[in-house]
Amino acid sequence: MSERTAEQVVESVRAAFAETFGHEPEGVWSAPGRVNLIGEHTDYNGGLCLPIALPHRTYAGVSHRDDGILRMASAQQDGVVEVVLDEVSPEQPGGWGSYVAGVLWALREEGHDVPGLDVLVDSTVPVGAGLSSSAALECSVAAAVSDLAGLGLLEDAGSRARLAQVCIRAENEIAGAPTGGMDQSAALLSDDATALLLDCRSWQTEQVPFDLASAGYALLVTDTHAHHELVDGQYGSRRDSCQEACRILGVDQLREVDPSELDATLEKLPTDELQRRVKHIVTEIDRVEQAVAALRSGDLEEVGRLFDASHVSMRDDYEISCEELDVATETARQHGALGARMTGGGFGGSCIAIVRSESVDEVSTAIDASFADHGFTAPSSFAVTAAGSARRDR
Ligand code: GLA
Repeated sequence: MSERTAEQVVESVRAAFAETFGHEPEGVWSAPGRVNLIGEHTDYNGGLCLPIALPHRTYAGVSHRDDGILRMASAQQDGVVEVVLDEVSPEQPGGWGSYVAGVLWALREEGHDVPGLDVLVDSTVPVGAGLSSSAALECSVAAAVSDLAGLGLLEDAGSRARLAQVCIRAENEIAGAPTGGMDQSAALLSDDATALLLDCRSWQTEQVPFDLASAGYALLVTDTHAHHELVDGQYGSRRDSCQEACRILGVDQLREVDPSELDATLEKLPTDELQRRVKHIVTEIDRVEQAVAALRSGDLEEVGRLFDASHVSMRDDYEISCEELDVATETARQHGALGARMTGGGFGGSCIAIVRSESVDEVSTAIDASFADHGFTAPSSFAVTAAGSARRDR
């Protein structure tokens, strides 16, 4: 958990906004980062995933402008980025500002009348940790615009799901990251003490109770500090493999592959690599269903086994893990975790483990020691609970 309270961040956003732009913001809105409990790389295959929103949030102080200009500043970046709304494109403004500008662009593409803005953001979501700091940024701004422009897109689950689609367009079409939609949905549709079962074919959602504390457990997140960058080629190449498999199998999405016919399906694929990619996706979607059933019946040991199976599948079949993630998950298991897996896009970033509440410190210390033994950069571990979605804070 971040050391700063929400109240403190809101205050500091207001002060920094006034100092940067010379006037008070009209309000402060925020949206959370996420960890995905299970269902990795399934979103762009029309599959199921099960994220929770984190207590870590990105806060945006925002005021509207009448001149069609967007000015952006961040407590985590130097300078003010400026772009004319009519000129927003994949090249303009580029950098972190494209996540903000992309949201305004996408809302306008959907036919909404959106004004220029002054925006100042501050975040407690670790950047580059695979915890969706970019979706938190997009969705905090999207929430602000919805309120300031009177769009009413925060009113209910249906309108929030539409706003999530807008943020997905911003990320895909302006920020240039070919991500699948889980992160934006988690940031806009999650609830306290529940996980979000997201069906990425119908975009329907269900809340699944997720309260480990009452059973004496905690969800430990370890940010490995290993490199994680979605806009480089690996993520896109996994997406391409899935599309190639769909072409060969004659389906629109891998979601359509029946898990009970997996072996026969895999035989139709020409390479061992493509077979393993498809096997991960099909079995992972199935594991989400099993995890939801296990959570509903309070069977955390089964959830832990599914975490472990998911990690093996990502490590060996989808090949998106890395040494740091393997060491962290293995160490957590050796120190009593019910299960552990990498979470998010992979190739670095974070992992999660279900550990007994009283073992949080022991497991964190053990992971630190393993990392030191391997000569890795020191990781950061923290226990999290499922938090709420995008909202107005002030
Ligand atoms: C990243 C993407 C998501 C999803 C995950 C993997 O977080 O942003 O859309 O594909 O990777 O599950």
